[in-house]
Amino acid sequence: MISTDIKNICCIGAGYVGGPTMAVIADRCPSIQVNVVDLNENRIKDWNDSDLSKLPVYEPGLDDVVARARGRNLHFTTNIEESIANADMVFISVNTPTKIKGVGAGQASDLRWVEACARQVAQCSRGNTIVVEKSTLPVRTAEVIKSILSSPQRDNRNSGELKTFEVLSNPEFLAEGTAIVDLENPDRILIGGESESAVEALANIYLQWVPNEKILRTSLWSSELAKLTANAFLAQRISSINSVSALCEATGADVREVANAIGTDSRIGSKFLDSGPGFGGSCFKKDILNLAYLCRYFGLPEVAEYWENVVKLNNWQQARIAQLVVQKLFGTVATKKIAILGFAFKADTNDTRESPAIMIAKDLLEEGAEIAIYDPKVNNEQIKKCLALAENKEDLSQAYKTQDAMNSEGKWSYKNDVVSAISGADAIIILTEWNEFKSLNWESLAPLMRHPAWVFDARAVADKTAIRCAGLNIWRVGDGSK
Ligand code: NAD
Ligand code: UGA
Repeated sequence: MISTDIKNICCIGAGYVGGPTMAVIADRCPSIQVNVVDLNENRIKDWNDSDLSKLPVYEPGLDDVVARARGRNLHFTTNIEESIANADMVFISVNTPTKIKGVGAGQASDLRWVEACARQVAQCSRGNTIVVEKSTLPVRTAEVIKSILSSPQRDNRNSGELKTFEVLSNPEFLAEGTAIVDLENPDRILIGGESESAVEALANIYLQWVPNEKILRTSLWSSELAKLTANAFLAQRISSINSVSALCEATGADVREVANAIGTDSRIGSKFLDSGPGFGGSCFKKDILNLAYLCRYFGLPEVAEYWENVVKLNNWQQARIAQLVVQKLFGTVATKKIAILGFAFKADTNDTRESPAIMIAKDLLEEGAEIAIYDPKVNNEQIKKCLALAENKEDLSQAYKTQDAMNSEGKWSYKNDVVSAISGADAIIILTEWNEFKSLNWESLAPLMRHPAWVFDARAVADKTAIRCAGLNIWRVGDGSK
């Protein structure tokens, strides 16, 4: 019998979702023991670091939550088997990247880590266990998990009793940079499942701090598909507004005025209408490609093509910014120094996965530019890895070697602050909307650059008038005004 009173949770995957999500659950449910496990020993070591500034995930407010719960009922450990064995409920919160090889390469999600988790749960669990899909998964993945779990498993430590499992889908909707706020005050909690007692067991956890009307109970398949659809809709809005940004630049309109005008229509709404260098992050592209793959698999090529265009437009926006820089700098950036301010895919995170900065930097390096990069939360090693991986190397050891190849076209260097990044630069490109970049003192920065100099503000965060007054040329995304 499934108990609706959960006492012990194991979360497999201590990443951007598993870490913060479990920290908040532990914080809000002191009577539940929460063990977050990972194969990656360094990651677990960092989660346990007494210096909270060294947590592997940077999120505003996360350090306070971890400080309250860690060691009390929140534990980070590599002891996977024992943590699963002790758990009434196991969350699977592992990575589900796009497949790079084999059937569905480039579109389908690679479920090898999810499958490995299901096998490990089947093997290590005791008694009755609720398995919760927290990772974003293709619709009907629960079927795969169930079939792995349903091959008869006996609990040898418990007089050979047959183990039982229930599978739930509970996708996560947090956005990086606002993860703690999103987790503490979610728009909704989505729980898909067949067993009412299992659904209620999970709902009871969230009910400790989320009102019941915000907890949506659906079928497994609706829940799995709703997550992919939510990300596709959000990304679609960004591609829509970015397509309009180019039209604004061509016609003299300003995309922010257009966004404000359309966003005040309550049917459209004002959120997710910020034009920029294109969406990044580990999920939008992967989830849309996965949705498109599923559509083709289920014989719906027109639907697949519709969603693929959201990604195509996003790639185009990134490419057009790089081209525009070259064009404004008299058609060549070879040996010119360009400062990139911001490498994270958005502000308030140290995550660089699929960051627009990667493709824009890569395009400019290929044109022979010398790039100086500064980001308040992203270090040299991480940028090195991203730029090397952008060379399409699957293997990191190979990827590192490509730094030299990249340097034969152009060069990049890491800088510790804005002043060192922009000194001697012909152009600055602002790619992440960090607060620090909103209040730069252009009067003192301008003389440090080589003139004529440009500011390309792909996030429209800097003070346009101050930039002009300082004698710099400016391009702002979606700004067609002269
Ligand atoms: P991540 O790469 O940061 O973390 C995943 C972790 O799982 C890694 O540390 C990895 O070592 C670990 N792992 C993989 N296989 C394992 C195994 N068999 N045993 C133990 N540990 C294992 O990924 P993430 O950003 O946390 O994303 C996880 C899932 O959540 C993905 O499906 C993603 O689409 C989804 N999601 C992510 C976000 C986000 O903002 N990042 C938001 C909502 C949903
Ligand atoms: C996104 C969703 O917002 C979350 O709900 C979801 O849980 C998550 O994906 C996921 O499944 O991984 P995230 O990628 O962390 O969250 O961050 P967003 O705030 O959505 O930003 C994504 C990208 O879109 C960033 O590059 C951001 O700069 C860009 N963006 C966002 C815009 O260009 N314009 C906007 O108006 C909003």
